[in-house]
Amino acid sequence: MLIQVNQDNQQFHLTNGKVSYIFHVMKNGQLGHLYYGKALRHRSDFSHLQAYDVPTAASCHVYEDDPAFSLETLRQEYPAYGNSDFREPAISVSKASEAHVPNFTYESFRILDGKPGLEGLPATYTEEEGQAGTLQVILKDHYLQAELTLNYTIFRDHPVIARSASLKNAGEDQLVIDRLMGASLDFPDKDFRFIHLAGTWSRERHVKERALETGIQSISSLRGASSHHHNPFLALKRPDATERSGEVFGFQFVYSSNFIMQVEVDHYDVARLTAGIHPFGFQWNLGPEQIFQTPEVVMVHSGEGLNGMSQAFHDLYREHLIPAQWRKGERPILINNWEATYFDFNEDKLVNIAKSARELGIELFVLDDGWFGKRNDDTSSLGDWHVDYDKLPNGIESLARKIKETGMQFGLWFEPEMISPNSELYREHPDWAVGFADRPHTLGRNQRVLDFSRPEIVEYLYEKMAAIIRETGLSYIKWDMNRNITEAYSSRLAANQQGEFFHRYILGVYDLYEKLTKEFPDVLFESCAGGGGRFDPGMMYYAPQAWASDDTDAIERLKIQYGTSYAYPLYSMGSHVSAVPNHQTLRTTPLSTRANVAYFGTFGYELDPLKLTEEERTEIKEQAAFYKKHRKLVRDGQFYRLLNPFAGNETAWMIVSRDQSEALIGWYKVLATANPSKQQTLRLDGLDPSKVYQASGLAQSFYGDELMAVGLPLPTEFNGVNRQKAERGGDFQSQVFYLQSTGASKL
Ligand code: DGJ
Repeated sequence: MLIQVNQDNQQFHLTNGKVSYIFHVMKNGQLGHLYYGKALRHRSDFSHLQAYDVPTAASCHVYEDDPAFSLETLRQEYPAYGNSDFREPAISVSKASEAHVPNFTYESFRILDGKPGLEGLPATYTEEEGQAGTLQVILKDHYLQAELTLNYTIFRDHPVIARSASLKNAGEDQLVIDRLMGASLDFPDKDFRFIHLAGTWSRERHVKERALETGIQSISSLRGASSHHHNPFLALKRPDATERSGEVFGFQFVYSSNFIMQVEVDHYDVARLTAGIHPFGFQWNLGPEQIFQTPEVVMVHSGEGLNGMSQAFHDLYREHLIPAQWRKGERPILINNWEATYFDFNEDKLVNIAKSARELGIELFVLDDGWFGKRNDDTSSLGDWHVDYDKLPNGIESLARKIKETGMQFGLWFEPEMISPNSELYREHPDWAVGFADRPHTLGRNQRVLDFSRPEIVEYLYEKMAAIIRETGLSYIKWDMNRNITEAYSSRLAANQQGEFFHRYILGVYDLYEKLTKEFPDVLFESCAGGGGRFDPGMMYYAPQAWASDDTDAIERLKIQYGTSYAYPLYSMGSHVSAVPNHQTLRTTPLSTRANVAYFGTFGYELDPLKLTEEERTEIKEQAAFYKKHRKLVRDGQFYRLLNPFAGNETAWMIVSRDQSEALIGWYKVLATANPSKQQTLRLDGLDPSKVYQASGLAQSFYGDELMAVGLPLPTEFNGVNRQKAERGGDFQSQVFYLQSTGASKL
């Protein structure tokens, strides 16, 4: 039983033996929070968990004769503002042109097996009976005639609870929603460190950490995309928690547009987490009988440190978020022509790249930007989704066929949400662009954004893309989005509806994804937004992999991929080997290191194979063969971070098979050290302590407990003297070890 209800005292307990989440109906009819954390055994009464019997000076109280009952001090499930709670609320709704203090009180509940989908939105899902249970609690504001449903899903096999809310207008007046969060959660204390992923173009998802302090600390996006700058991910870690141990709470908002995730710590050190659509600029008109559904917040509890948190996200997304058909099956090693040719290509050049790449063992050729309209640079043609006959005189079908004849699959780049002012589409439909007709509009990469809040525009793009998919028989699409949204205004929305624009826009994007993935389930989608500007769980529901960053430099990628792994599985991260000097940093790193980093993702190449030396070609053949041998492990294994690139000169991580019989370990050292220490080992994780393991390249075998407590010996580093004995040296060193249990029971 995943959900237990103490009917007499109106208490709800969600538990799967790993986590418990407990709340109740308070005496004023609103919902109060009691506990969230490590699983507690069930009991018939949890009232003692409500810390409420001390009246506090100067707080407003709900009942005259009960000064202790103040919403300022009670932990709540879905708070409103203006009723003795002065913190930022989860909900703000009123009748149009009338102020109101919402008062949603308990009406009823229902329990469902599994997890209902969220209309029009990406969300975690279940496929079989018993995989999750959902509790829906229905509350009503009688003055507004509005019905609020709070959804709580607990997954049977994961320490995860997913929350969302929906609001129904059950009356006759128009309602206006100013704020409706996916979740709100009051922790009893603030003894946490606040961790999130921040960055910018080419430097996405760097790990940031600080102590949680009194006041509001938040991450957010107002860019119309989840953004390069803040990922919709937040973790609250107990100060003593590490990668390997201790308590961590992780939160992700399953959404790809404007969001806020914040923690407000009040004067009693209560830490309130809220996560949802950013209320700035948001306003939703809710007519009679209409329902507004929020995207969901996924909440993970780990008692095994940050690695435990990440593993829970990874498993959840692998099993309950990405399209089921991509859970199994191997993702092809791809080569993308972007860094090889940019806009300068023709059919011969592309076919030759494909042929040459095929000989190396690469499986999918992706034609990036520049194949359509008259696009010779980034100043034109977005929106004109027909082939450029100057570059490809035989058409796109012919190119696709020739690529496939080389033995490669064929993939294509699109940027469906954009329109270049210099395009046929713009000349025909200038009003299709987002923005005010007669007022200035801001360009980004010389382009404007198509108004995806308009269903007819989404439909137009669907027709165009579907025609090309059919014509080419392609098996992969890279869906790019290279600018954020400015002058957010839709000519089709009334003045009082403009606050709906951003949400309607992303619903349009989801709709197009839905249509295409439904009709072409075998096409693999990789999401991209100028690299990792929309790397979020919302996208992952449709596109199981995302281009992690435009930065392909191996050393930069250590931080990007390390940070990304906090929330996202390795198999979702597009990671490619590119040419040197690297195009983003001008750094030159060894080919082996570039591959050693890229193996820990969905592997590929971003270079011109015709420019490689014979030696490099041999090495790449070996790399492709290596990845093919191990990609199942990358897909299905359990990931552990070992050494943190934000904390030192070395990075390490590993992935262990579920039966602990094999593991792949990546170790990287950015700068060489003069006269390094003699005893260099890497302590591993996740192995079976009693199994005997053999590591590639090492003569000796080890017990799992030795490898975890003492460590794997690293090859001898050059120490300035003994050149013959040195097995490694210089900057940007790396090593990948493959570890396999030998089956021996004794050493
Ligand atoms: C940004 C992407 O991240 C790149 O990989 C490439 O596709 C360019 N856009 C093409 O314009």
